[in-house]
Amino acid sequence: MSVVSITREGEVAVVTIDNPPVNALSQAVRQGLWDAVSSLDADPQVRAVVLVCAGRTFIAGADVTEFGKPPQAPHLPDLVDRIEGAQKPWVAAIHGSALGGGFEVAMGCRFRVAVEGASVGLPEVSLGIVPGASGTVRTPRLAGFEAAVELVTSGKPVKAAKALSLGLVDAVFADDLQAHALAYARDALTRDLPPPVSVRPVTAPDPGFWDEKRKAVAKAAKGAEAPLRALDCLRKAAEAPFAEALAHERQTFLDLRGSDQAAALRHVFFAERAAPRPAHLKGVDPLPLRSAGVIGGGTMGAGIAATLRDAGIPVTLIERDDEALKRGMATLRAIFEGAVKRGKLTEAQAQDRMAGVTATTDYAALSDADLVIEAVFEEIGVKRAVFDQLAAACRPDALLATNTSYLDPRLIAEGLQNPERFIGLHFFSPANVMRLLEIVPVPETSDRTLATGFALGRMLNKIPVQSGICEGFIGNRILKRYRTSAEALVRKGIAIADIDAAMRDYGLAMGPFEAQDLGGLDIAYLQREGARAAGQDVPETLGDVLVRAGRKGQKTGGGWYDYAPGDRKPQPSAAVADLLAERIASPAAMDRDAIARHLVAEMAAEGQAILDESIAAKASDIDLVEIHGYGFPRWRGGPMWATGHRG
Ligand code: 3HC
Ligand code: NAI
Repeated sequence: MSVVSITREGEVAVVTIDNPPVNALSQAVRQGLWDAVSSLDADPQVRAVVLVCAGRTFIAGADVTEFGKPPQAPHLPDLVDRIEGAQKPWVAAIHGSALGGGFEVAMGCRFRVAVEGASVGLPEVSLGIVPGASGTVRTPRLAGFEAAVELVTSGKPVKAAKALSLGLVDAVFADDLQAHALAYARDALTRDLPPPVSVRPVTAPDPGFWDEKRKAVAKAAKGAEAPLRALDCLRKAAEAPFAEALAHERQTFLDLRGSDQAAALRHVFFAERAAPRPAHLKGVDPLPLRSAGVIGGGTMGAGIAATLRDAGIPVTLIERDDEALKRGMATLRAIFEGAVKRGKLTEAQAQDRMAGVTATTDYAALSDADLVIEAVFEEIGVKRAVFDQLAAACRPDALLATNTSYLDPRLIAEGLQNPERFIGLHFFSPANVMRLLEIVPVPETSDRTLATGFALGRMLNKIPVQSGICEGFIGNRILKRYRTSAEALVRKGIAIADIDAAMRDYGLAMGPFEAQDLGGLDIAYLQREGARAAGQDVPETLGDVLVRAGRKGQKTGGGWYDYAPGDRKPQPSAAVADLLAERIASPAAMDRDAIARHLVAEMAAEGQAILDESIAAKASDIDLVEIHGYGFPRWRGGPMWATGHRG
């Protein structure tokens, strides 16, 4: 069957795109639309055209799988022009998402209507490119430059109601999109048509506007190139005629499409989409997840409860006593209140989130839970006691999960009845924000349990990555190597502040030492001390020296740096220099770029060891762990991609 078909509803033709899964603009779709314009222009019975899509969404954009290949006619900009130049007015009827090239096709139409819940946007910058078919030139003609800059440089879509208020769409309907779009088209025929978008005037902002936006966009981009190039395109759209701005946009699009950043971002795009559905679990049905328990309402437990509630799952929160329970509920409430303050939730939604939480110290409340996640103190004895109670209280088929960071999940599961339902689910702090979820099966874990872990990841909108068992799993093991390697540079005489600056320049939000000062040096120290007490040979680290001198990070007024009271700005510390003097070589210089390349190579070397030991299944999983758990710059593709480890 053809991907583009035409039916007739009286004098209005309906053009339907049916190209699953997301109606991307493959060559066949472009050709089909091109031919549809020709045949409908030639059909005297047709006076208007409604463009709809079958399946779950309107056109989600250019076909990203075609990006590595030579472009094939008809080219998208020509198609958009052709639809705009059609003799009959086209009405784009949008459900799901109209993204990138999809929204550009919609802007080629004379009208755009949408169903409630739909969204429109230009996400190209998140793929390292700019809109390539007039997005930067037509959008400001509909919505002005303020909105166009936000839409194009952030890449974030907007919902139908917002799109209506910005002028990006002409009408929004509650339901029955196609019928309303047909009625809209018929009604439009009774009135004068508005001019095509390309001939509408723009109001050019003054130069100060561009300076201000440039600063803001550069700050948010953190080294990504596309947002700034997109801003240049928008400026061109303000200051040059339509055709000239369009040519500039096209050239920028073609330049960027072959760039390293775009290749890296495409790698992340496909890795993120593959991660939630690993091939080895194909055909394994997950268990239903209708209710959950969380044991421990501390930092992690409260965050995990919040993310479960965000997904609509009722939660029973268990603590060791009433005092701790009260604190846990207060932490949870503070999470939702914070979301209300930031405009992410309404007051009513926050109340609903809290109403779905049962707080208790009684494990009997878990008798019908489908899943329980343990997030109590990182002590094997405490955790084992919790699982004993869970085994007694829960259904034998209830999934039992631990959020341990460093303990061996096999030891936690030892002696558990029905261990096939046991699994590690390692969330990252704050658990309701961070998207990474490491999924750690023990040898007894059944495929069904594993598949349910991934299903939970999808429900929570996380990026689930399977990890084998080793100290720190994938992420914290690489973190340890990264920190050790950074300390080794300090020992060689490289300044701490230079190392942090090098990693910031590379695109991380923080360098390794300032990040430790923020999180506290004591947690890793205690862990090392624990290992030493257990007889392991753990060499002294520079961090140990600082903690022993009372320098645990910002919370004690100093760690790797000094901090003035109430100020989070790290200041190089003479005290640290003194403390470490014996262990550090005389000052040495290293180019920042070389520092960053060295540390990323160290991360990748650990990643390779993790692959060799089959702790991770593929290099792209390691990249996802670093991007979604540790703030590695997305546009670099992750440490494995950045150092040429593919697959
Ligand atoms: N091209 C090719 N394949 C695409 C695609 C695209 N633009 N968008 C999604 N897919 C594929 C995914 O890889 C996935 O494939 P799989 O099932 O084989 O793994 C499948 O479609 C479903 O994708 P999701 O899992 O993401 O589905 P969701 O329902 O969760 O989300 C969506 C749907 C919101 C449309 C989301 O897929 C999305 O955001 N897509 C990307 C949109 C985008 O970036 N468009 C811009 C493209 S660039 C462009 O248009 C340039 C132009 O200006 C010239
Ligand atoms: P926390 O100390 O903030 O919270 C632990 C909570 O567990 C406390 O509220 C405590 O009262 C409760 N608790 C202790 N024993 C209990 C019992 N027997 N029954 C019920 N509740 C009990 O600790 P945090 O940071 O939340 O860590 C919890 C777990 O999550 C640990 O295993 C930790 O390794 C892991 N983790 C921590 C991360 C972090 O960044 N803090 C990240 C990922 C995992």
